[in-house]
Amino acid sequence: MHESVLLTESINYLNLNDQSIIVDCTLGYGGHSSQILKQIPNGYLYAFDQDKEAIKSADQKLKAIRDNYEIINTNFVNIKEEITKRIDHVDGILFDLGVSSPQLDEASRGFSFHKEAPLDMRMNRDQKLSAYDVVNTYAQEDLIKIFKVYGEEKYANSIAKGIIKARENKDIKTTLELSEIIKANVPEKYRKKGHPARKVFQAIRIEVNDELNVFEKALKDALNLIKVGGRICVITFHSLEDRICKNVFNEVSMIPKELQNLPIIPDEYKPKYKVIANIKPSDEEIEKNNRSRSARLRVIERSL
Ligand SMILES: C[S@@+](CC[C@H](N)C(=O)[O-])C[C@H]1O[C@@H](n2cnc3c(N)ncnc32)[C@H](O)[C@@H]1O
Repeated sequence: MHESVLLTESINYLNLNDQSIIVDCTLGYGGHSSQILKQIPNGYLYAFDQDKEAIKSADQKLKAIRDNYEIINTNFVNIKEEITKRIDHVDGILFDLGVSSPQLDEASRGFSFHKEAPLDMRMNRDQKLSAYDVVNTYAQEDLIKIFKVYGEEKYANSIAKGIIKARENKDIKTTLELSEIIKANVPEKYRKKGHPARKVFQAIRIEVNDELNVFEKALKDALNLIKVGGRICVITFHSLEDRICKNVFNEVSMIPKELQNLPIIPDEYKPKYKVIANIKPSDEEIEKNNRSRSARLRVIERSL
């Protein structure tokens, strides 16, 4: 079961009316999309996901509500092409980033460092690059870079070195094999601070799915797809995604520094967007759903 994070808050911020046209970029198991669909009887929902298994399950849920929706089985990096060939502008766009609980729980997907599985981590199983390729073919410098940048991993150098050494003997095939190599290449005291493989697994997942580049491009395209008065809600789960969101939102909502002291801002420099919210889950939600502890919701509205 996937428990949607910041569900009420994100749906409220989408400011729905019965005719709203909404894009859910991360359909998953349909938690957010179901709530949206219930509130837009005369509107329309476009929902993206690149995971066929998630789509199958969400489609059943949505079908039971109404049929004014279309599921688009592709990466949301294609949002601009996919939406503009259907409609010019929409009222709201939602991103609920990362992987869903069923993706994490299903051992065979290879996302979890707790469960033995082939090294995979592809959200889209038709894609070629998998965690196996990253771990077994990337050069040491590239592994270090990924672990540092995408995992913010302090022991990136020693872990990468350990991986290179281990794969001299044989390929590293499974999640637990990798997890053991990571454990063996960090100091004893570090092993006590949460699972030592967590950051490296996050880094490899981001690399396999190119998550940060894809998100940044899609978010910038999304800004041009909303109508005046339309909103974008973004739920992120780690600081790297959140930083991208914050920077993109700041860039389009702030008056350039050199003009900030002018008594009247010329029209062409007036920001086209306004940041509406930046919130974290309530203590009650964090207590009920541990996955929400690192989540953050940012909302922006098009004003011009
Ligand atoms: C956190 S879950 C969404 C959960 C959903 N909001 C719910 O309430 O059930 C994220 C989903 O987005 C999908 N996803 C992540 N990145 C994607 C991308 N770049 N393109 C398409 N789908 C993506 C994943 O496959 C996953 O199913």
